[in-house]
Amino acid sequence: MFTPDLLKNKRILITGGGTGLGKGMAERFLELGAIVHICGRREEVLEQTAAELSAKGTIHTIPCDVRSLDAVEAMIDSIWSEAPLDILVNNAAGNFIARTEELSPGAWNSVIGIVLMGTLNCTMACGRRWLASEHKGTVLSISATYAPVGSAYVVPSAVSKAGVEALTRSLAVEWGNRGIRMNAIAPGPIPTQGAFSRVLPHPGLETLALDRNPQHRFGTVEELANLAAFLVSDGSGYINGEVIRMDGGEFLQGAGEFSNLGRVLKEEDWQAIKPKKSGRKS
Ligand code: HXC
Ligand code: NAP
Repeated sequence: MFTPDLLKNKRILITGGGTGLGKGMAERFLELGAIVHICGRREEVLEQTAAELSAKGTIHTIPCDVRSLDAVEAMIDSIWSEAPLDILVNNAAGNFIARTEELSPGAWNSVIGIVLMGTLNCTMACGRRWLASEHKGTVLSISATYAPVGSAYVVPSAVSKAGVEALTRSLAVEWGNRGIRMNAIAPGPIPTQGAFSRVLPHPGLETLALDRNPQHRFGTVEELANLAAFLVSDGSGYINGEVIRMDGGEFLQGAGEFSNLGRVLKEEDWQAIKPKKSGRKS
């Protein structure tokens, strides 16, 4: 899909890069010539991923809990001591389904801490350094399709992703004239162990999710990684402040007043609705 040097020598940090979509992006970015750093809380997971992907290019691991500003600053300092990053991908997340009235303060803090504060911590740590040194930078954050409308049963995530999108759009304007580009991807469901075990923990829920998608399938890690590669590359330099939805049309399926008719009406119903031939010429 791309020339193999699309991201040649670009230095990229992917938070949560040891698993799922983060790992998929790491693999694609390496194939396209990037130097990739991945962080996450579990060192053994990062090491395993790096071992798997090291044949594709240069990959570094840094254990880091993005909820802690001190830990993020230490991670970014250590990366910058080699050379500045060019691209930050805010991908780390926490999520689970729960009835909102049953959430403890700790449960709220846990998800908001990872998704919203983690994204803020990493974005600010890179952004301040880029601005101070007049180094160009690109931030790509992974949101979710429910961010602009909210969603029952994943409310800490919905609140946090809405904040991530607001951050993206706000800083696209504030930092846009100083060489920093901010964008986000809002994916629909893409099978990963981390996400599906927590938000679709029942086969019935997967069937429901497939049924409401116009393409009747889930997205793939490769599709997400290709879109991410395009958005972080210099070739998309005029795209700034956008949230690109990638969900096979699922979001719009919910929005159209008559979108469900295709599932409810049978061939004979459509025939019955058609106007009868009147025999008139015009
Ligand atoms: C209610 C819960 C809960 C649940 C945890 N808690 N799970 N409350 N229902 N299912 C509460 C705990 O009781 C605790 O509250 C607090 O949350 C913190 O829990 P810990 O287990 O101590 O936290 P921690 O070990 O930091 O784990 C964070 C986590 C976990 C978010 C809870 O799930 C995690 O590590 N997730 C990382 C990966 C992830 O979630 N990936 C999915 C991304 S998918 P107290 O009161 O005891 O402090 C996604 C979009 C999917 O984001 C969209 C699909 C279409
Ligand atoms: P995943 O595999 O669970 O990825 C989450 C990653 O975040 C893990 O590698 C995890 O590693 C890391 N992480 C969690 N807490 C962290 C913390 N405090 N500090 C640093 N890293 C942390 O799930 P995924 O499906 O790939 O999700 C990736 C992104 O896509 C998330 O932003 C998610 O919201 C978004 N998304 C996914 C889907 C989907 O269907 N898959 C749909 C919409 C949006 P550790 O546990 O080792 O820290």
